[in-house]
Amino acid sequence: MADKLRVGIVGAGGIAQGAHLPAVKKVERAEPIALCDLDSNKAERVARENNIPYFFQDYQDMFEKVEMDAVIICLPTYLHLPATKMALEAELHVLCEKPLAMNALEALEMVELARRAKKILMVALNERFQSHSQVLKKLIENQELGDIYYAKMGWLRRQGVPGGWFSEKEKAGGGPLIDLGVHLLDLAWWLMGNPKPMSVIGSTYSNMAHPASYISDSDILENENKPLANNLDSSRNVSDREMPKAWGVEDLAVALVKFERGQTLFLETSWTLHCRDEIMYGEIFGTQGGARIGPVEFCKMISKPASMEIYKNMQGIPVNITPVLEDVNSYDAEVKHFIDCIIQGREPTTPAEQAIEVMRIIDAIYKSAQTGQMVRIGNGRGRPDSFRCR
Ligand SMILES: NC(=O)c1ccc[n+]([C@@H]2O[C@H](COP(=O)([O-])OP(=O)(O)OC[C@H]3O[C@@H](n4cnc5c(N)ncnc54)[C@H](O)[C@@H]3O)[C@@H](O)[C@H]2O)c1
Repeated sequence: MADKLRVGIVGAGGIAQGAHLPAVKKVERAEPIALCDLDSNKAERVARENNIPYFFQDYQDMFEKVEMDAVIICLPTYLHLPATKMALEAELHVLCEKPLAMNALEALEMVELARRAKKILMVALNERFQSHSQVLKKLIENQELGDIYYAKMGWLRRQGVPGGWFSEKEKAGGGPLIDLGVHLLDLAWWLMGNPKPMSVIGSTYSNMAHPASYISDSDILENENKPLANNLDSSRNVSDREMPKAWGVEDLAVALVKFERGQTLFLETSWTLHCRDEIMYGEIFGTQGGARIGPVEFCKMISKPASMEIYKNMQGIPVNITPVLEDVNSYDAEVKHFIDCIIQGREPTTPAEQAIEVMRIIDAIYKSAQTGQMVRIGNGRGRPDSFRCR
């Protein structure tokens, strides 16, 4: 292994420029060595701006021509599987953006490919790396909240429909549920101790998404004092994405998920909704205590933790506890963790295996919304067919 891990960036759009490139540059034992983007002008510009020696239009070309150790896949969702497959075949470790895949079957295929290649496949679920998430996980693991039996998670946007491929079902797999909800489902499921999902009832709506709800360039300019946030927030980074011609995905999703020991998770997420503010929140309730993350405006959470409170009884008296949280950029922490895992040969905190379960819940919510019925989730063992929702 070279002194520094040589990292390639696949796709040079919003998340690559706003999160992954700056993060790789901050890791002492890593360097961005190459990048590619279908838009060759963008590939060249971003490479030059970041002193990256090699740039390509085609990722296969990049995998073949540049000696690298790892890649970060920052492509539209429908390309996560083919690009990961090719990267693993080229013997590269992979950090793949969320959602891992279009559905659980694809996610399973990616995990099996990584196992066969004996390479790390980590999924970029950065919400687990927020300092409030890390602190809460530690408190829960140490039984400070007792047994967790109920959680509520929400990420509601009033006017935040992302452009281009995000609104095309064939490229994105769905709307806010698979885009934002994947973070919430993963975070809640992880905090609850990864319980086995049993059934789901969900609804999706497409009442609001139309060109007027598409965030405009003037909105972007109004927010120009928040450049980092603008780059990361897919809805505010639309200037080089095409206006979608058709709306093939939901704009609101609501779901109840039931787990093996009767635990319940409530989830709500929108790209556009007549709500007052854009908010993200999480609430976790256990037999010995509860916790609340936020509510917070998402952009304010990129480099600062959300506010968090713990609710307990002491001598029968209700007390509210406010943990002191470190300022952590979750994307920096995620990328550093990926590099550390490669160097130390250890399993990541967000292994792709776990993303399969989250994708199964998402598949089931879409199925429930489509059929109007509760959907039982198969046990997921054995053949891929058992990953289909019943
Ligand atoms: N974790 C987060 O907070 C977060 C935030 C935003 C986006 N994301 C995820 O990151 C991924 C990318 O999202 P984005 O917002 O950067 O999208 P984007 O549209 O801004 O960027 C995607 C880039 O991929 C390029 N591309 C498309 N097809 C290609 C191909 N065949 N080969 C090479 N390049 C190609 C496009 O030209 C574009 O530059 C998605 O999976 C998204 O869900 C995660």
